[in-house]
Amino acid sequence: MGIKKDWDFDEIIDRSHTVSMKWEPDVLAATFGKGRENLLPLWVADMDFKSPTVVRQAMEERLSHQIYGYTMPDPAYEDAVISWFQRRHQWAIERPWILSSPGIVPATNYLIQRFSMPGDKVLIQTPVYYPFAQSIAGNGRGIVENPLKINAGRYEMDFQDLELRVKDPGVKVAILCSPHNPVGRVWEPDELERFGNICIDNNVLVFADEIHCDLIMPGLKHTCFQTLSDKFARHSIAANAASKTFNLAGLHQSALIIPDDRLRNEFSIYNRTLGVNPRGYGTLFGSVAARAAYDHGEPWLADLIPYLHENFIYLKQTLEQGLPGVKVFDLEGTYLAWADFNPLGLPPETVIEKIEQGAGVALDHGDWFGENGAGFERFNIACPRSILKRAVESIVDAFQK
Ligand SMILES: Cc1ncc(COP(=O)(O)O)c(C=O)c1O
Repeated sequence: MGIKKDWDFDEIIDRSHTVSMKWEPDVLAATFGKGRENLLPLWVADMDFKSPTVVRQAMEERLSHQIYGYTMPDPAYEDAVISWFQRRHQWAIERPWILSSPGIVPATNYLIQRFSMPGDKVLIQTPVYYPFAQSIAGNGRGIVENPLKINAGRYEMDFQDLELRVKDPGVKVAILCSPHNPVGRVWEPDELERFGNICIDNNVLVFADEIHCDLIMPGLKHTCFQTLSDKFARHSIAANAASKTFNLAGLHQSALIIPDDRLRNEFSIYNRTLGVNPRGYGTLFGSVAARAAYDHGEPWLADLIPYLHENFIYLKQTLEQGLPGVKVFDLEGTYLAWADFNPLGLPPETVIEKIEQGAGVALDHGDWFGENGAGFERFNIACPRSILKRAVESIVDAFQK
């Protein structure tokens, strides 16, 4: 499959009437309130860019077969996962370690159900991707927060606090968000080592959600948690996907990497109780798409990263110059930028009112990610620059009025 460089991240694509969660007026009204169905959406984490054409071509090829019966986990998809992580992350994943899942959020729920009991606790590092807390609470487990702290304008893990939290024998699982959504950190190897050692030495299983591991800003490098040591590999479950990187989230295909036989067996048994293949289940087209993206999507990704980076620079400069005091944290990974509006001295409700009512923009509000996110806002910058400009200029105007 030859690669023709046919992508244009500046192209504006109408996503209305595609039941896009990000753009659907009903969803916007349900989330932000009546009358807010037409907000310009810079919230839900998908991209307003077309996936690489190689992905469409691979799906069309499979589509033309016209039989879409039961399928098995696809070894060609697994090969693509193995090769991608070897090439890009120097991680030698072995085929039996890979289990499929229709998403990392569903996997988070199964994992909580399988590796803890009702009443047990799961640790998260707030502010953090809010479905973690929803999954923990929804399954009747307790949420234990190990809040991140800000040191010299950069988020860090609080290891002293972590040591204390994991001493609680009720804590069975710790969720590592790496890179971290929403604060945009790409954790360094020594941070991951300290985190992993503290958790594992206290018998806490690590769930390393690495869905954003291929969205790394220029000059930085993501370290896959399980590559750090044998001990880490044996006492953790890692999750990754092509879905964020190549904009395939609606196809529901992600991978769980479980090197330890016992842990993997637990998961397989669990899959059986769900009535699905013990090696997990993604989707027919999800695995076709992920395979094509991993095998042929690198040139597209190589252009995407600098585009996102320039979007980030634009956002940071415009917001910080236009609204003195507002701080946009450096984006190391993900396409989700995190900004602190608290220095403006306005109550968080007023900040939200100005962004939604004043500027007509939908953002993820900071307190969704934990109490320590109040007054912060998360911008999804994976959109054409002209859309980002419209949103950011409207926000600056709304505050300056
Ligand atoms: C950290 C993190 N994990 C998981 C997901 C979603 O995973 P999935 O679509 O595979 O359920 C997201 C989406 O934004 C995310 O940011």
